[in-house]
Amino acid sequence: MSVKKVTVVGAGNVGATAAQRIVEKQLANVVLVDIVDGLPQGKALDMMQSAATEEFDTTIVGANDYEPTANSDVVIITAGIARKPGMSRDDLLATNAKIVGGVTEEIVSRSPNAIIIVVSNPLDVMTFLSWQKSGFPAERVVGMAGVLDSSRYACFIAEALNCSIKDVRAMVLGGHGDTMVPVPEYTTVNGIQITQLLPEEKINEINVRTQNGGAEIVKYLKTGSAYYAPSASAVAMAEAVLLDSNRILPACAYLNGEYGISDVYCGVPVSLGANGVTKIHEIELRQNSLDALQSSANDVKELCEKMKALA
Ligand code: NAI
Ligand code: 2OP
Repeated sequence: MSVKKVTVVGAGNVGATAAQRIVEKQLANVVLVDIVDGLPQGKALDMMQSAATEEFDTTIVGANDYEPTANSDVVIITAGIARKPGMSRDDLLATNAKIVGGVTEEIVSRSPNAIIIVVSNPLDVMTFLSWQKSGFPAERVVGMAGVLDSSRYACFIAEALNCSIKDVRAMVLGGHGDTMVPVPEYTTVNGIQITQLLPEEKINEINVRTQNGGAEIVKYLKTGSAYYAPSASAVAMAEAVLLDSNRILPACAYLNGEYGISDVYCGVPVSLGANGVTKIHEIELRQNSLDALQSSANDVKELCEKMKALA
């Protein structure tokens, strides 16, 4: 089997850590792109010099242009600015729209068959923009947020129950913002709903902590935002595509009537494989979760309108 190729755009915290995870897992050869002269080249060379110790045969090169990215199977877009304390993800809108739009055009002209995984914030709007700029079918452009938000939810649940995180399956849907929707009715510990294991008050507290999970880390770091869990989440999605494993994951996908939501990208459970989003799962939700999902999608739509007005 020939080795797959992944381009990671943005050699900052999320991009470089994602690239490192991909080569160390030997999922694909990586091209790491950034606008800063020397940054992707230096990080790529440093990672190559860890190959003997970490024992991987995959390769990574850095570039400031897109020629080496040609014919990538997967492209992960992390380029842009990240949050600082006091900033919401939405504050990044104007700057990141220009960056993500430009990056998408460079990518699609050289990798017409790639699956694009968008990470840059504000996530749902950037994914919509990337899809529009790409001209790709919607199933080949997907955003990363639900895997991260669900992973944070799982972390807090395991902590509250003092149980192994390996048994926790958590689900967070909706937009990647303050109105994201933790879904307790589909969150289980080895099949047992958390509603049977934790009092409602504790679940509500964990839900709020999950919604503020990114801000909690920004507050600690002060100069940037989270990247270990975000890079792991983006790589989990890339892995599902590269291995065609059809994992069912929460991801930011284009909705066309599902859940009563149309013409917007928003977090829902999807099947993810070599062709991208092969299915959107329209699961039965409690009325309050469905209402929250629709309201979150409306917030994303409003932000999309704001972006269009800026253009
Ligand atoms: P960072 O600042 O460490 O890295 C961003 C990199 O993008 C920098 O190296 C910068 O030089 C590069 N860049 C800027 N313009 C570029 C362009 N036109 N072409 C190529 N590279 C360009 O930021 P970090 O922490 O890696 O975050 C990246 C983005 O991901 C941010 O927008 C952040 O908000 C978002 N993010 C999203 C998450 C999610 O769940 N979807 C989670 C974590 C971060
Ligand atoms: C996060 O959730 C900032 O979106 C980023 O950590």
